[in-house]
Amino acid sequence: MQIVDLDEKYNDLYFMCLEDWSDEMKEAGDHKEDWYSKMKDKGLGVKLALNKKEEVVGMIQYIPIEYSFAEGEDLYYINCVWVHGYEEGVGNFQKKGIGTKLIKAAEEDIRGRGAKGVVAWGVSLPFWMKASWFKKHGYEKVDKQSMAVLLWKPFSEDAVAPKWIKQKKKPEKIPGKVSVTAFLNGWCPSQNIVFERAKRAASEFGDKVVFTEIDTFNRENFSEWGIADALFIDGKEVRTGPPPSYEDIKNKINKRVKKLK
Ligand SMILES: CC(C)(COP(=O)(O)OP(=O)(O)OC[C@H]1O[C@@H](n2cnc3c(N)ncnc32)[C@H](O)[C@@H]1OP(=O)(O)O)[C@@H](O)C(=O)NCCC(=O)NCCS
Repeated sequence: MQIVDLDEKYNDLYFMCLEDWSDEMKEAGDHKEDWYSKMKDKGLGVKLALNKKEEVVGMIQYIPIEYSFAEGEDLYYINCVWVHGYEEGVGNFQKKGIGTKLIKAAEEDIRGRGAKGVVAWGVSLPFWMKASWFKKHGYEKVDKQSMAVLLWKPFSEDAVAPKWIKQKKKPEKIPGKVSVTAFLNGWCPSQNIVFERAKRAASEFGDKVVFTEIDTFNRENFSEWGIADALFIDGKEVRTGPPPSYEDIKNKINKRVKKLK
């Protein structure tokens, strides 16, 4: 097992969260690649874990905090750490200590870049990206928004704790129409799948549905809404983790369409 920096030959695998076997991932569009092309010269760090056969079995990615969804200074933000956990593809590599190696390598890199600390996020539930996993690695909770816990590990005494940038408003209903609003940053293929499904589903209803796309990689848009990745139908947020199916999204829109006079 070795930890390496992202090499171009692994780009495609990285763009699909190592899930080259997944049909769902094929629905994610090229948003992650776009995001990568914008972030690669802005301090993005990606480390991969390779098994003995040099297959990619884990990844961690981190960015300077000013490109993240939290407020802070001189800090790096871990977007995600993922050790392949499915039987498909390369197989399940979780619980072998790979996650621990990845986070250590990321921390060492971030320290070497002169940052004052590392920030991570996790959910306050015992599955998916668990906040408790970061706590085991010495991270301390500093903020919370709904189920999303913000944690950090300062490296220096003058480091200032980060905060979530909170949601400021939500999309309004549109009289006589059904409004579908999709917020997209691009960093997360799962969220990119939701965006693509919502766009496709909305287009099936002609002019009864107004689809609005908000690019939250654009900092002005993100600051205006305080929303990074989300889907709203007639002002109501649809849960997007794990991604709802295409049929689910279409049914939700259809229900609102049927209520139009
Ligand atoms: C969280 C995660 C990164 C942890 O990585 P990991 O490689 O499984 O784990 P760790 O190195 O931390 O080890 C996990 C457990 O395996 C145990 N372990 C480590 N090495 C081991 C070994 N050689 N043999 C047996 N157990 C071992 C550890 O002690 C630890 O036990 P604990 O949970 O009781 O503390 C991984 O489980 C994961 O990817 N989860 C999903 C996260 C996710 O959804 N990410 C996407 C968010 S956008």
